[in-house]
Amino acid sequence: MYSHEAGFLHAQGRAPAWLEVPQDVNALLQPIWPGSAHKPPADSILRVGGLTVQEIAAQVGTPAYVLDEADFRGRAKAFADAFAEAFSPLEGAHVHYAAKALITVGIARWLAEDGLSVDVCSGGELEVVMRGGIPPQRITFHGSNKSDAELIQAMEVGVDLIAIDSLAEIARVAQVADEGDFRPNVMLRCSIGIEAHTHEFIATSHEDQKFGLSAADGSVEEGVRRVSSHPRLNLRGLHTHIGSQIFDARAFRQAVQRMADLTVSLEREHRVCFPELGLGGGFGVAYTTGHDPLEPAEIAARMAEHVEHEFKAERLAVPHVTVEPGRAIAGPAGITLYTVGTVKPVSLDGGFTRLYVSVDGGMSDNIRTALYGADYSATLASRRSSAPPRLARVVGKHCESGDIVVKDEYLPADIAAGDILAVPVTGAYCHSMSSNYNSVPRPPVVSVQDGLLTVLLRRETMTDLLARDLYA
Ligand code: LLP
Repeated sequence: MYSHEAGFLHAQGRAPAWLEVPQDVNALLQPIWPGSAHKPPADSILRVGGLTVQEIAAQVGTPAYVLDEADFRGRAKAFADAFAEAFSPLEGAHVHYAAKALITVGIARWLAEDGLSVDVCSGGELEVVMRGGIPPQRITFHGSNKSDAELIQAMEVGVDLIAIDSLAEIARVAQVADEGDFRPNVMLRCSIGIEAHTHEFIATSHEDQKFGLSAADGSVEEGVRRVSSHPRLNLRGLHTHIGSQIFDARAFRQAVQRMADLTVSLEREHRVCFPELGLGGGFGVAYTTGHDPLEPAEIAARMAEHVEHEFKAERLAVPHVTVEPGRAIAGPAGITLYTVGTVKPVSLDGGFTRLYVSVDGGMSDNIRTALYGADYSATLASRRSSAPPRLARVVGKHCESGDIVVKDEYLPADIAAGDILAVPVTGAYCHSMSSNYNSVPRPPVVSVQDGLLTVLLRRETMTDLLARDLYA
């Protein structure tokens, strides 16, 4: 880990190895753009969902999060179909969209219509998905530190499953169940010591982190004992989530292997039977051409193979499986539109000049670059340029030098104030992690399809910003 988010960026003068100088600086690198995004060669103006970026900006301004509805729903369906098909010879599998990636009432409606289940990890997410019409039988409640109020809310609406995250939580779930006469189904989230190769803030199943009950120190076993002995708690199975933005298929294989090993010892020693196995989300997406993700069909086929192999090898009944993709559904479906403001060449040591391109948003609408050192791409979206490519850094309007949206990208050298810039793969964990830093109102979230724009969340206003200020 670096000590300051901007630290390693300052150390690096030139483009990273994966970033190639584009043959045509106007062209879109198709794998990282939503399905409907294209730039006709005649004008090179970006269209998405049948609308030009100028048409979108005229309706809702910039910055704006723009979701390609067909792309989002297509990805959700691709996961649902792939898992249903791959697991049909076994005990079946179900896809739960991880609402933390991006959720609004309108998005929950799409998921409800398309038959997906949903994972929530707070009372707020639960409220949003319920308002979108997701039936409680299709909701799992996660969270590493659920409040009593959230547990009561989850049990009152009757969510299908509560994923218990610690030994301490078992007693709290039991108490809420006793007091309200509820009989919740629960899973135990297990930490199984897998170090998936991802940023350390988003890897969750190695030992030194806060999530889950540790398999290594006997907490899972103790949890099974405690839950099984409580008459109101129905233990449906074990769950694990090994991290996020994972490309290494071996990590998922290892996870299935460890869960089968764990299941075998628990079932034998405690005479329990787990009909359900939660394998979490974490499937990586391509933010840039440097990433090469697996397709849902391949992920599902491999997982089915691992589950069948590992559980049969242990002579265990094959469980019904759930997976929880968030990023892989929402991420690539979304782009962010910004308007360029100040463009500033900054001379660095060694005669190198970096072009700083400031946009009208920044770390308040996309914290991922500052927080994880995430890579993004960008394109000039509102016109064709015949200028040569120039290495640039897209930065925001916030009072911080770590306020970087795109660390390195080749943009046309004539990029100028007033141009619209589009950043792809911002559908997941950008709006959901957005803030009002510097009292900047949050951008709208809109969906586009067949030339129609729908506002899912409107832009925040000054009135919204002041609404909680009792002195205003
Ligand atoms: N299931 C559980 C229990 C999770 O904790 C998560 C993510 C998911 C599913 C969905 O993971 P996905 O498929 O989206 O990778 N803010 C970070 C990501 C944090 C993920 C936390 N848990 C980022 O922007 O990369």
